[in-house]
Amino acid sequence: MGGFRLSVDYGTSHTVAVLAEPGGRTRPLLFDGSPLLPSTVAAHDGHLLTGAEALRAARTTPAATEPNPKRRITDGDVLLGGRSYPVTALIAATFRTVSDEARRVAGHRPALTVTHPAGWGASRRGVLAAAVASAGYDTAAYVPEPVAAARFFTARSGVPVGAHLVVYDLGAGTCDVAVLRRTGDGFDVVGVGGLDDVGGLDLDAVVVDVLGRAVGATGEWRRLLAGDRPRDRHALWQEAREAKEALSRRASALVHVLGRDLPVSREDFEAASRPVLDRTVALTGQVIASAGLTNTDVSAVYLVGGASRVPLVATLLHRATGIAPTVLDQPELVVAEGAVLGTGPARAETPPPDENPTPDPRPAPPPKPPAPAPAPAPAPPAASLFDFTPPPGLVARSQLGAGVAVVLFLLPIAITLIPGLRTAVMNDLLRTELGLDPPGDVIAVFSPWLLCLLVQQLTPNGSGKSRVRVDDESITVVRGDKPEKYLWEHVNSFGTEKDRLVLHALSPAPGGSGFVPKKLVLGDPAWLPSGGRGFAAVVERRSGGRFRPL
Ligand SMILES: Nc1ncnc2c1ncn2[C@@H]1O[C@H](COP(=O)(O)OP(=O)(O)OP(=O)(O)O)[C@@H](O)[C@H]1O
Ligand SMILES: [Mg+2]
Repeated sequence: MGGFRLSVDYGTSHTVAVLAEPGGRTRPLLFDGSPLLPSTVAAHDGHLLTGAEALRAARTTPAATEPNPKRRITDGDVLLGGRSYPVTALIAATFRTVSDEARRVAGHRPALTVTHPAGWGASRRGVLAAAVASAGYDTAAYVPEPVAAARFFTARSGVPVGAHLVVYDLGAGTCDVAVLRRTGDGFDVVGVGGLDDVGGLDLDAVVVDVLGRAVGATGEWRRLLAGDRPRDRHALWQEAREAKEALSRRASALVHVLGRDLPVSREDFEAASRPVLDRTVALTGQVIASAGLTNTDVSAVYLVGGASRVPLVATLLHRATGIAPTVLDQPELVVAEGAVLGTGPARAETPPPDENPTPDPRPAPPPKPPAPAPAPAPAPPAASLFDFTPPPGLVARSQLGAGVAVVLFLLPIAITLIPGLRTAVMNDLLRTELGLDPPGDVIAVFSPWLLCLLVQQLTPNGSGKSRVRVDDESITVVRGDKPEKYLWEHVNSFGTEKDRLVLHALSPAPGGSGFVPKKLVLGDPAWLPSGGRGFAAVVERRSGGRFRPL
């Protein structure tokens, strides 16, 4: 490999690649003169375009373009211009562009390190690994994004041994937080957590909401949002992003929408974006607490990711932690810069220790020892826990419709309202389904077929044949060729969401008595009761209408 090393931070909006020369000097690869390669991919004449070419295509043929393939990583296939592409092909296209440029600069293909969000479990890491492999890299090292960022900061700053640092990374699609302790020869990751649904794109949506309120809910506005005119819709989101970025520097910005120039003030934007940013600040507090620390134990808070430029981010973090965060000029480059530092030539071809146990989002769990778990092999592509097609008799029963639906609607509600019934039904279901002692605080437990029936009946167009696919992050219901996805919810969102089918997985509590709600973990033998085919889910009906897929 000649000693060159390459790191790639595959981002929701941008991909950053940094090359380390044999002498140790590092530099970002440039694409059209910029270190930020747009992650956009566009289909054109049977080829996949990447980077600036894809962005250009997006203006004229938005329907043939995917601006953020990373956000589609669990979708399997993506429709571009009427043709379906595996999401791995989209991601691989960008990795190929990077690999070609690295090979041109280095003269050969360097060893590769790839970063991923801290919150990604085995299945999403598996899709990423499959894409990297199909771009020609059978072996690569993988490292969580905040860990890479921490390496960058600790390499540069004279942090004393024993000091604790917080890395807060707000990119376009995710928010990752890590707490690190400086050691004699590096650092330990003592806390890590992520939000997969919070990033700069959600702040773009905030600008669109603010505009919507200014315009009023006219039919024209609704049609624009619905994408009746895809080019105009594309232009609206582009303008919203530019306005958001401008508001980091100015008190107001103009957005051209429906033939007029509308002002958006920083004040309105900050008020509307507060709930989104508050979640990231709360996450930061949880990660600090999960490391067994308080704010006074933290020496520095580092901001990473383009969206961390929003001034309210630093303000809220400062207020919550009492520490003025450190901001860099180019927070987008930090992750890739740190990833290339963390691997020497000998390590670059093998996965590093998994410094990223999938975070448990319960508030303040007891501190974990910092020792990293042994490294798993690169995960296989998006394995499902099971695919379940109801047997014909079950489908026939579900097509009976109303009667079964009413029972299934009423069952969780009755169980919720009548404690005695809850206990009785829970005991019975848990014993028969799982052979376990019942918990006291669940609403309903369903076996695969019952879940399948329930989803059929509770969702729109709920009757008819369906297949349920369960993986460690979501449940997908496939009716015909139309998949609908429901995410497994974390326990700390319990009771806060509306109009969502909320499914909580259960697993035996560590002490052996009762249960604790838990995210499904692929392949965890303590959790899968019968050869990987059974599972329990708590299903709760939310107020405000029927369940809708995400
Ligand atoms: N000045 C700014 N003010 C606010 N937001 C900004 C600014 N500059 C860039 N951004 C936002 O930063 C985001 C891109 O950041 P970055 O490149 O770090 O994300 P990413 O790595 O692609 O995403 P992720 O890490 O979530 O996968 C975009 O949403 C962009 O609009
Ligand atoms: Mg990023």
